[in-house]
Amino acid sequence: METFELAVDALRARQCIKWTRYDADVLPAWVADMDFAVAEPVQAAITRLVECQDYGYGHRTDEAGLAAAFARRMRDRFGWDVDRERVQTVTEVIQCMFAAVLAFSEPGDGVVIQTPIYPPFLRTVEQTGRRMVDNPLRDDGTRFVLDVDGLRRAVDDRTRVLFVCNPHNPTGRVFERDELLALGELAVERDLLIVADEIHADLVYPGRRHIPMGTLGPAIAARTITLTSATKAFNIAGLRCAVMYFGSDQLRERFRRTIPDSLLGQASVVGVDATIAAWRHGQPWLDAVLARLLANRDRVARFVAEELPGVRHHAPEGTYLAWLDCRDLDLPERPYQFFLDRARVGLGNGEDFGPPGRTCVRLNFATSADVLEQVLTRMAEAVHRQTEGRPLAATT
Ligand SMILES: Cc1ncc(COP(=O)(O)O)c(C=O)c1O
Repeated sequence: METFELAVDALRARQCIKWTRYDADVLPAWVADMDFAVAEPVQAAITRLVECQDYGYGHRTDEAGLAAAFARRMRDRFGWDVDRERVQTVTEVIQCMFAAVLAFSEPGDGVVIQTPIYPPFLRTVEQTGRRMVDNPLRDDGTRFVLDVDGLRRAVDDRTRVLFVCNPHNPTGRVFERDELLALGELAVERDLLIVADEIHADLVYPGRRHIPMGTLGPAIAARTITLTSATKAFNIAGLRCAVMYFGSDQLRERFRRTIPDSLLGQASVVGVDATIAAWRHGQPWLDAVLARLLANRDRVARFVAEELPGVRHHAPEGTYLAWLDCRDLDLPERPYQFFLDRARVGLGNGEDFGPPGRTCVRLNFATSADVLEQVLTRMAEAVHRQTEGRPLAATT
């Protein structure tokens, strides 16, 4: 076992939702938390707060602050020069998705999403009374691609906001420059605000590169709000700290006219210090974690090809999420329920990710090789029991 991998007993002893939601005989592979201990610098930053009982109102500005850590990380990792003055520390990405839609559109206005999509995107559109402009990703047989022509047709005069989730949850696509440019140029042409959720940007596998929307030229950057955090890559989602970056002063001012800063609350000192430590000193840990995730990603792809040939799957280019389409398995119930009841594996329910997800499940493979093997084996055994006596649909 690698040093950052936590044993199942230790995971079950914690109160995180991933390991407490289901009965003890279920192996959870759903919510996007990793079964790993955090980077030592992150733990040290939290320990320092605990030991000093440093729980008063925070004051971390200039070089010691989050804006500086964010700016340095964006420059070093992605060659992106951001203006520190336009960095806003916030508590969470989802809240900012809602806030951006409220600030830049009216009820009934169109908001573009690309299904299948992380469920809060759907909720953001529904719960703010905006109109869903769905631009489903297209499966080209090897991967999911953005359908820019489809988007061009779907955008109308009352479409105001374009959500871009890159790397994409749940498909794991890391979009290429050409794809992103096409989206960005359309946004300029049709005067759309771009809200770029780049929370998985640090979880990208060899052969792919994350390209921030903010690096695609001044016209695109000036209409982009980027949302990100250290929480996915460094496994600190419960600490509640994120960044909202405005691509221009005008965007920030317009946003603040509708959503005063106080409405967004303040990130906790724990979240801020942990994020700064992660971004500044966590890379060696992340490199080791990425090696484990890459091996797991490849294991999932091999296993599915060999043991679950009825499942459609493209290995993700980023994230630790595997999107598995079970439509050819001809299961007696929705795949999420099937695998929960008959494999005792708790996966992400594809139905929550919009219409294309009905036949899908999302598998979080950020765990030890051992747990992953148990998850996959249980799934294959359940399918084989179900299909006993008759070949899997895709192999006929
Ligand atoms: C694409 C994406 N955006 C946002 C979030 C949640 O971010 P937060 O907890 O900061 O709201 C997640 C969590 O998994 C995610 O995958």
